[in-house]
Amino acid sequence: MRNTLLSIALFGAMSLSAQQKSTISIYPDKANQTINKEVYGQFAEHLGTCIYGGLWVGEKSSIPNTNGYRNDVVKALKDLKVPVLRWPGGCFADEYHWRDGIGPKENRPRMVNNNWGGTVEDNSFGTHEFLNLCELLGCEPYISGNVGSGTVEELAKWVEYMTAEQGSPMAKLRKENGREKPWKVKFLGVGNESWGCGGSMRPEYYSDLYRRYSTYCRNFDGNKLYKIASGASDYDYDWTETLMKNIGQRMDGVSLHYYTVLGWDGSKGSATKFTDEDYYWTIGKCLEIEPVIKKHIAIMDKYDPKKQVDLLVDEWGTWWDTEPGTNPGHLYQQNTLRDAFVASLSLDVFHKYTDRIKMANIAQVANVLQSMILTKDDKMVLTPTYYVFKMYNVHQDATYLPIEIACDKKVVRGERIVPMISSTASKDKNGLVHISISNVSLNESEDIQINLGGLKANKVKGEILTSKNISDYNDFDKKDVVTPKSFNGAKIVKGNLNVSLPAKSIVTLTLE
Ligand code: AHR
Repeated sequence: MRNTLLSIALFGAMSLSAQQKSTISIYPDKANQTINKEVYGQFAEHLGTCIYGGLWVGEKSSIPNTNGYRNDVVKALKDLKVPVLRWPGGCFADEYHWRDGIGPKENRPRMVNNNWGGTVEDNSFGTHEFLNLCELLGCEPYISGNVGSGTVEELAKWVEYMTAEQGSPMAKLRKENGREKPWKVKFLGVGNESWGCGGSMRPEYYSDLYRRYSTYCRNFDGNKLYKIASGASDYDYDWTETLMKNIGQRMDGVSLHYYTVLGWDGSKGSATKFTDEDYYWTIGKCLEIEPVIKKHIAIMDKYDPKKQVDLLVDEWGTWWDTEPGTNPGHLYQQNTLRDAFVASLSLDVFHKYTDRIKMANIAQVANVLQSMILTKDDKMVLTPTYYVFKMYNVHQDATYLPIEIACDKKVVRGERIVPMISSTASKDKNGLVHISISNVSLNESEDIQINLGGLKANKVKGEILTSKNISDYNDFDKKDVVTPKSFNGAKIVKGNLNVSLPAKSIVTLTLE
């Protein structure tokens, strides 16, 4: 890997030429893994305006809706090809009692959302509303069960209510509430952040609770549950070790949460006002997910060399200060081109470990943290992160093509090494090869030579996401500041692909 003297210069002291040269080598002969579409998963929590106002406005709203779901948002999410949606939290899940969210809406009890701003929750969006939304979107539901404050019986009965066909009291109750056929529910989380908001447990104790709760979550009438243990936060390798030792293959997957924040101390910083150095530092923090994942995987490999237990990064993304003037408990933040890079670089990493990482859920789908979508009354904005997910959805369920990248790097604040190029490639079921490339550099365009490793290509087309400033974003009165455009900077020359990539840009190429 090229690593010039310049690359070890401190940020700010660098003087690079206007045009950099990098190479990407693709190894199709080493391809043997599929990129699970579930790494493009989303997360919807009862938090701020994610559900209420974001996805759901209710049947009586003047905002155009179908059975209470916003038409604009549903269309945008269908275009995105959302494979899986996690609900009802997050921290909210461990205080959620599902029976409060079924039956006639006027009879549903209210509760205080203690985790998120003390907002009063009226439970008008419950199990039926969520599972019907998944059917509308054509995605798998991922139910996050209450272990922190709920009982084993409560979780067992929820599974029965959702998935039992007939002859059971819970199936009867579901039918009385208007749903004859059970839903298919594959993904079941047994608690969330059980080391923190999900019960402040120690890993040994949680392991036993997992074993107990999961025992009573049954497979009814052909529905096969895929059970997910509440996993570690970031660098907590002991949590993963203890779960692998004590739960092992009783779980189908174990989760990992990793957020990209600005400061070492967990401080966050503004979503839209940041320096160039802050930007590179953020990219460094985002990329640190790779060594973190590698360490968790190494522990998993020790206990599970055949890779029967999956790693699910079921919360990830940027976490900035909330927008001024909004409820600090609602985690509403803007989303700039910087967020788009965190999305593309993270997805590149998830693809690389696709033999172990089978799902990832960005936090969250609307109006919370690194959202796909922002809404205000009847207005909707698609964020730069949304566009990355859209440009990247060609990689869903495609064969991962291993790659190597040689490029310049920056060392930021003497600590974090940030490569200027990130990339991923795949071949889909129709034989089309897609290559996504991010040029992280704020100032330098890149001439990239791509060695296709024998892949045949006659034509190349592409889409590019970039903008004048890295802090640019889409807002309700300026919706199209950062949107994908057609890209003409790629050419096939004697079997090789040459790409000229502007500074701070993300492209996806299609080879035909
Ligand atoms: O996504 C916001 C919160 O972050 C989730 O509720 C929780 O699981 C995590 O701490």
